[in-house]
Amino acid sequence: MTQVLTAVGSMWESRIATTLEASREVQISRRCADLADLLAIAGAGLGEVALVSSDLRGLDLSAVDDLHRHGLHVVGLTVSDSESEERWLRSVGVDAVVPVRAGLTELEAHLLARTPGGLGDGAPSGSEVGSRAGHGAGADGGPADPFLADLAGAGPTPARPGTGAEEPTRPAPAPEGGGRIIAVWGPTGAPGRTTVAVNLASEIASAKTSTLLVDLDTYGGSVAQVLSVLDEAPGVAAACRAAEQGGLDVTGLARLSPQIAPHLRVLTGIPKAERWTELRAGSVERVLELARVMVEVVVVDCGFCLEDDEELSYDTLAPRRNAATLTALAMADELVAVGAADPVGLQRLVRGLQELDTVSAPTPTVVVNKVRAAAVGPRPKSSIADALSRFAGVNEQSFIPDDRDALDAALLTGRTLEEAAPSSPARVAIAELAARLVGIPTPTRRRGRRGTMDS
Ligand SMILES: Nc1ncnc2c1ncn2[C@@H]1O[C@H](COP(=O)(O)OP(=O)(O)OP(=O)(O)O)[C@@H](O)[C@H]1O
Ligand SMILES: [Mg+2]
Repeated sequence: MTQVLTAVGSMWESRIATTLEASREVQISRRCADLADLLAIAGAGLGEVALVSSDLRGLDLSAVDDLHRHGLHVVGLTVSDSESEERWLRSVGVDAVVPVRAGLTELEAHLLARTPGGLGDGAPSGSEVGSRAGHGAGADGGPADPFLADLAGAGPTPARPGTGAEEPTRPAPAPEGGGRIIAVWGPTGAPGRTTVAVNLASEIASAKTSTLLVDLDTYGGSVAQVLSVLDEAPGVAAACRAAEQGGLDVTGLARLSPQIAPHLRVLTGIPKAERWTELRAGSVERVLELARVMVEVVVVDCGFCLEDDEELSYDTLAPRRNAATLTALAMADELVAVGAADPVGLQRLVRGLQELDTVSAPTPTVVVNKVRAAAVGPRPKSSIADALSRFAGVNEQSFIPDDRDALDAALLTGRTLEEAAPSSPARVAIAELAARLVGIPTPTRRRGRRGTMDS
């Protein structure tokens, strides 16, 4: 007998209980009074399936995510004929949806079918193109991003039924999500995670690959500042808030991610570290899943810390300090681990690589940044390669030279290296890294110009 936990509005509870009484395959093991009760029972490891009604107070993406983490199959119950109700339930992540009027056979079929849940039902639709403060790029940002063309004339974001939102105008196809996620991580000490993430994204986009750069560093997000994106850009916090309420789709994500250059969009980070609680695992996961649908490559600037406070606490509902980074690493197709090329930076990198082994993440591509002889002695690349091979078993790495002039030129004007210093050694190294990661052609080097201010 499959054990079912129900958390169903009082108007429907007895009807469901009566229907399931006749079942030989499923049994209600607990009728939960509310969502908190359901989550506590699920947390205790009881039950195999959760049956929740759309009017259950507090039901959202995090709650469904939590039920999934406890291994439950989650079935949503629609209480009216509204199509938007089903869409909303799916957008908060339930695995199946069944109407409250369903008979025993239909109900059993859904409770017993352990199919993975779909993503939000958002169809690509209408867009806004953001602008980048400081140097006027973006508003009409060059050749149209193919995605923007696809957005034309679509329906609104699904919203929880009963909120007064309009009924969606047409059903949306389920997102396919073929885009790749590249997480850029590195230990503490500012080794250059943001520099690598920003310029990697810009190089990939310049090869006409639609790209989204996401700032998930909850300790010191700086992508907005580095790229001179307007301060008031709502960014990832707004995207997570919408995802939490089941109201984020590809269109909504596009609206929150201004296009700052052809093929390049940016989802800015939280403006203050204290707002980290807004980036919960379930909503970050949804944002990244939708990002995968929206663009071909998603580049994520991650925070340095990999500690998982869930293991330290019994309160599995509490937001986790490093949920954003850990979620991005777990979802990533590629991981770039950036370390600084000085004795302290290299030691942190070696320890960081060991720590990476303890979390769910792809095998990293190691990048050593700010390489200079002054910090590690003559022939810096070969000394660094020796040290990494000896202490971390890393036999292949990329190097980015120390290139203060180029980085300063870019930072001063809020531009990427490609824009501010296209022939600079740092830019060339990051372009080669991009080529290696996503197979795009390396830009041809300009002869006779070793400049940092050339553009
Ligand atoms: N190759 C390089 N050469 C010279 N300076 C660099 C290089 N890469 C990064 N920097 C500089 O190092 C500083 C830190 O870089 P960045 O902000 O990218 O690091 P981070 O790892 O993201 O740090 P944080 O912990 O603040 O997020 C910046 O001033 C940046 O311009
Ligand atoms: Mg950073």
